[in-house]
Amino acid sequence: RVAGPCVMVLFGVTGDLAKRKLLPAIYDLGNRGLLPPGFSLVGFARRDWKDQDFARLTHDAVKANARTPFREEVWKQLAEGIHFVPGEFSDDGAFDALAMALKEIDQTRGTGGNYAFYLSVPPKFFPAVVKQLKRTGLADAPEGSWRRVVIEKPFGHDLKSAHELNEITNEAFPESSIFRIDHYLGKETVQNIMALRFANNLYEPIWNRSYVDHVQITMAEDIGLAGRAGYYDGIGAARDVIQNHLLQLLALVGMEDPTSFEASSLRREKEKVLKAVRLPADLKNNTARGKYAAGWQGGEKVVGYLEEEGIPADSTTETYAAIKLEIANRRWAGVPFYLRTGKRLGRRVTEVAVVFQRAPHLPFSKDDTEILGQNALVIRVQPDEGITVRFGSKVPGTAMEVRDVSMDFAYGESFMESSPEAYERLLLDVMIGDPPLFPHQREVELSWKILDPIEEFWATQGQPEDYPAGSWGPPSADEMMARDGRVWRRL
Ligand code: BG6
Repeated sequence: RVAGPCVMVLFGVTGDLAKRKLLPAIYDLGNRGLLPPGFSLVGFARRDWKDQDFARLTHDAVKANARTPFREEVWKQLAEGIHFVPGEFSDDGAFDALAMALKEIDQTRGTGGNYAFYLSVPPKFFPAVVKQLKRTGLADAPEGSWRRVVIEKPFGHDLKSAHELNEITNEAFPESSIFRIDHYLGKETVQNIMALRFANNLYEPIWNRSYVDHVQITMAEDIGLAGRAGYYDGIGAARDVIQNHLLQLLALVGMEDPTSFEASSLRREKEKVLKAVRLPADLKNNTARGKYAAGWQGGEKVVGYLEEEGIPADSTTETYAAIKLEIANRRWAGVPFYLRTGKRLGRRVTEVAVVFQRAPHLPFSKDDTEILGQNALVIRVQPDEGITVRFGSKVPGTAMEVRDVSMDFAYGESFMESSPEAYERLLLDVMIGDPPLFPHQREVELSWKILDPIEEFWATQGQPEDYPAGSWGPPSADEMMARDGRVWRRL
């Protein structure tokens, strides 16, 4: 898959995401030979910079964070196409200069008027940038070329604001030119959920309420705020990752098979699942929220959320959230989906565990099977990418003792190919114009519809419950599972 010549215009070049992910991913694409000839990168920011200043920032970001080894010739090729336009989002002159610069690049590098505008800026700046792109005509693709806009979450704060944000973007760009990034969909292991389910015949027959007891989707992080207090406070764990990453995982696990991997088919199936999601009537007993208190992590003492720099002492933002959902359709009726996420938990791990019902009858004595758990298929999203199947096996010996064992698939052992970083895949898809891995606005709004009632309920509940940093979350999360006679998987 190769992209045609184009320019990527990056707004928010000095931000954390650009330095940690976007700029290194662009270099990695170059290193893998996947950048189109003439590819040019234009940075736009409120800095009094020249091209070489932006090139230096990119160089440092690549050196620090690229996945692939640094090669001088790859860097040189990339650096030749690096430009910088200084300016404020409200400055008409700066955007006129951007339009001029792009015209010139088309002439010198043969990029043919194909531009992707990547808005790696807080959503409050979206309207200003989009308006400028419309005013300068940059949003309108002349015959034979394309214009695309890439937006990063958060896509709003709730259903209403997500809708407003979309209206603003739609004023300048048609839906088919809007690429909403959910970087989880760029992860190999997440895409592999579809391969696992639909390229095989082994799992699908049991992937339903007749065999599945429940599903646990976990995204645990060991890091705290990582300098993002300004973004995180007032947002919290549920808006930050359940509304997007975890509900997307739920949709991929729960959906019917799409007729093809075209965006329209895939999105339609995901939307059907999200539409069928039902919340429990009793939100108090079926959700949990917490905030980390001081504790120990990786042998280091860390402060609690309220002591973090930039967090108001009376903040009620949660850093841990767990919720129980159901999917009201023929395949899943009655099967709970438990979603949990948190910062400053025991370790970094994201997984989807499909836990199966117990065997209807065991021809062994109770003593022989005392520690036998339920069969489970665990998709290990990260960091130890792979799939594990847990099942009971006879313990070698003269007795009929049965114990849980696991069968493992590990990417590193089965494949020579290294996984590209999620952003590499997604940036390439933007340049190619391939949208299946980008959520549609309807998915965004359906996800907010699920979350809004929970957020409204939590807003009446005061402070989230404390959990020590380095632990696995607040007691209420365990109690929520215990009420259903279940436990969270130990990670
Ligand atoms: C982001 C969240 O979307 O995902 C962050 O805003 C979180 O809070 C990050 O740390 C985690 O991404 P990953 O790829 O490291 O799991």
